[in-house]
Amino acid sequence: MTTSSPVVVALDFPTAAQALELARQLSPQDCRLKIGKELFTQAGPSLVEAVQDMGFDVFLDLKFHDIPNTVAAAVTSAARMGVWMVNVHASGGRKMMQAARDALLPFEKPPLLIAVTILTSLSDEELFEIGYMAGAGTMVENLASLAQQCGMDGVVCSAQEASVIRQAQGADFKLVTPGIRLPESAKDDQTRILTPEAAVAAGSDYLVIGRPITRADDPQAALSHILKRLSSQ
Ligand code: C5P
Repeated sequence: MTTSSPVVVALDFPTAAQALELARQLSPQDCRLKIGKELFTQAGPSLVEAVQDMGFDVFLDLKFHDIPNTVAAAVTSAARMGVWMVNVHASGGRKMMQAARDALLPFEKPPLLIAVTILTSLSDEELFEIGYMAGAGTMVENLASLAQQCGMDGVVCSAQEASVIRQAQGADFKLVTPGIRLPESAKDDQTRILTPEAAVAAGSDYLVIGRPITRADDPQAALSHILKRLSSQ
């Protein structure tokens, strides 16, 4: 199943049962699903397979960061599961990203390989504390450029960073952006947010959206509303 929808719904649930209950309410023609550390650690590959059997493409959001050999092996395992997208930390460095890319060469339909630049939760003070003296903005630009040199298909970035990266890295580099909110929805713990339309206008290819859909009374209606806003842009 492939969909032209840019929406990736974040299945942030502690159990497979809750994740499946939500997935059953959504159409795979309208979105893809993101499975992250909490759910994957609990439910594992069988949950990935279950939602794939329902027709969903899966973004396996495990943000691998380790020595090159280990990350290459982890990315291989993800590709064997047939996921649509997988990610690694760009700060794992050139050799790690190249090893991840090379690991996908044998696959006929490899997942999109995406790098995380700087976690949006980190302030400049915290970055200084761990020795990243350049500050978040410069680090994001440097790591996005390095990720592209290493053959990554794109990066996860905040919607605010999207236009700068789009300009620097060109049209083919995929930008995956969380922090999406509708004007009427709660911000939750997100600080730097954009509407779906503004994120796409800034250059985002894929919008990662969790609570505005997963906590809605009618998740499919919330998803359809977002798609309608995007199509009437
Ligand atoms: O519920 P909400 O729409 O805030 O969910 C956003 C999803 O994107 C969550 O799974 C969150 O972990 C993820 N994410 C994020 N900000 C980042 C990277 C990932 O919100 N910088």
